Amino acid sequence: MIFKKRTHTCGELRLTDINSQITLNGWVSKKRDLGGLLFIDIRDRYGLTQIKIAPENTEAYTKAIKLGQEFVISVSGKVIKRESINKNIPTGEIEIEVSEIEVLNESEVPPFVIEEDVKASDELRLKYRYLDIRRKNISDNLILRSKVSHIVHRYFEKNNFVEIETPVLMKSTPEGARDYLVPSRVHKGKFYALPQSPQIYKQILMVSGMDRYVQICKCFRDEDLRADRQPEFTQIDLEMSFVTQDDVFEILEGMFGEIWKEVKGIELPVKFRRMTYDEAMKNYGSDKPDLRIRGDMKIENLSEIVKNSEFKVFQDALSVKAGVVAGIKLSGKEVTRKIIDSLTDFIKKLGFGGLGYLKYNSDGTVQSPMTKFLTEEILTGIKELFKAENGDTVFILSGENLKVLQSLGSLRLKFAEDFKLTDETIYEFLWVTDFPLFHYDEEEKRFFAEHHVFTMPKDEYIKFLDSRDKDEVESIRANCYDLVLNGHEITSGSIRIHKPDIQKKVFDMIGLTDEEAKMKFGFILEAFRYGAPPHGGAAVGYDRVIAILAGLKSITDTIAFPKTLRATSLMDECPSEVSGIQLEELGIEISKPAVKQ
Ligand code: AMO
Repeated sequence: MIFKKRTHTCGELRLTDINSQITLNGWVSKKRDLGGLLFIDIRDRYGLTQIKIAPENTEAYTKAIKLGQEFVISVSGKVIKRESINKNIPTGEIEIEVSEIEVLNESEVPPFVIEEDVKASDELRLKYRYLDIRRKNISDNLILRSKVSHIVHRYFEKNNFVEIETPVLMKSTPEGARDYLVPSRVHKGKFYALPQSPQIYKQILMVSGMDRYVQICKCFRDEDLRADRQPEFTQIDLEMSFVTQDDVFEILEGMFGEIWKEVKGIELPVKFRRMTYDEAMKNYGSDKPDLRIRGDMKIENLSEIVKNSEFKVFQDALSVKAGVVAGIKLSGKEVTRKIIDSLTDFIKKLGFGGLGYLKYNSDGTVQSPMTKFLTEEILTGIKELFKAENGDTVFILSGENLKVLQSLGSLRLKFAEDFKLTDETIYEFLWVTDFPLFHYDEEEKRFFAEHHVFTMPKDEYIKFLDSRDKDEVESIRANCYDLVLNGHEITSGSIRIHKPDIQKKVFDMIGLTDEEAKMKFGFILEAFRYGAPPHGGAAVGYDRVIAILAGLKSITDTIAFPKTLRATSLMDECPSEVSGIQLEELGIEISKPAVKQ
């Protein structure tokens, strides 16, 4: 069959095309029978066009009446002015008076109706992902993703970067997340790993002199999944030689500037705001503060003000070394008993006994279960510190410093959500810098690298690499940075260690013996012996950037074929069992058969 090819797409025709003879190809979207006249919406990825078939055209009408949803058709006819205009679609002023219809393919009744406000469950949509992608809500995200990818390639080309593909089968060097492993048939009992990121390769490429590397690449991590985490996701990965942190920032600021200009028509500031990790934690209780919240809602430290109070809860908190009393203020919102109860539940789930509060009533009185324990002086001190006015409420937590700050940070975000305090119209980019190099894990009783083991400590802290004092080691700050957008970590990177003596000290700190370091990272350490230049870089979480540009809360719908939160693909049903022959070839025996869930 030679089908009649489209002359236009289904999103293209306008009043200026009136009287043209055209052909459209697409899918049957909606069909309406209005007393003899048949109206059908024909859809492709560009849009919808209404076609009209009169019963007088017997041949076309007979075919049209039998059309089911999602049949693929070719229609030819004349563009005419539409009587009842549909302002919601760009083709809404015209329709097609059909002369000929050809059915290119039939379709089974789809498991859900393909429409903007889809009623199907997420599971059903993922199982029939190819149908879901017919919806503009999804296809638009993929088109946006493609557009941004073109902008990124163009930008880096212009800036003299070289795109280099790195292996997808690599040596397992687990750090952070678990690796996805691929068994080798040729070398039974040995495994490749899928890269968690091309980190090691890009650093080796710096040794090779490829001083500006970039790649849009897939990364694979077997970790707990969330709305912003997929087991395979995409990074814009870059690395540069002979640079400082500022150079990396400048390149990425330029890239985001072009993306936002082209996609949103928004001029971003040439330089983004910066804040150290310590400032971010102290003020916002988070290393990715959302700066769009009205009134800012900074955390205030009350330890100094309340240190002489008789209140046992505060005394207990302040008697330990890392103890703190701190709070945040919610301005001008009616805080009822019910709200306090639900906030107290929220805080209890975070491991606190209770939530302190001071409610400044409109009549000037203060309502609080704590007033009887606090002197006038302390109450005045708190009120002044927060510049609290009638109608405001100050919430207070006490306990271990980090836990208090993080919990107040969570409370801040909860207030923003519950009371709609976030300005959704703006994009707040923020570099968070000077992250700690190590953290101490109480369970494993050892230090872990906070970012990755190749991150360079800041000069002034190098002396502490020889210390084993927990406080000193945890005080080490690194040339390590994140870019935060609207409270989401969208990029992470660092200046790397290029000197073997510093690298060895970092390995020592995390308890990696020379033997182990050689086994895990021998090849990169060897490469570094042949003239490693100073270098640094970053990786942008591409899916997260697209989600924010598209106004999505989850990255799932930025990805054509995403996995569920349980790391499965409902469409192709993976992971799946494999045949005994395949396993035998790989020399693998399954000791625990899959449990049906
Ligand atoms: P990092 O592990 O921080 O750094 O990853 C960089 C960015 O990738 C995004 N990201 C994810 N997105 C979706 N799903 C996931 N599971 C996921 N994990 C991370 C985040 C994050 O900021 N090699 C280093 C970068 C470097 O130092 O150059 C790295 O991979 O937005």
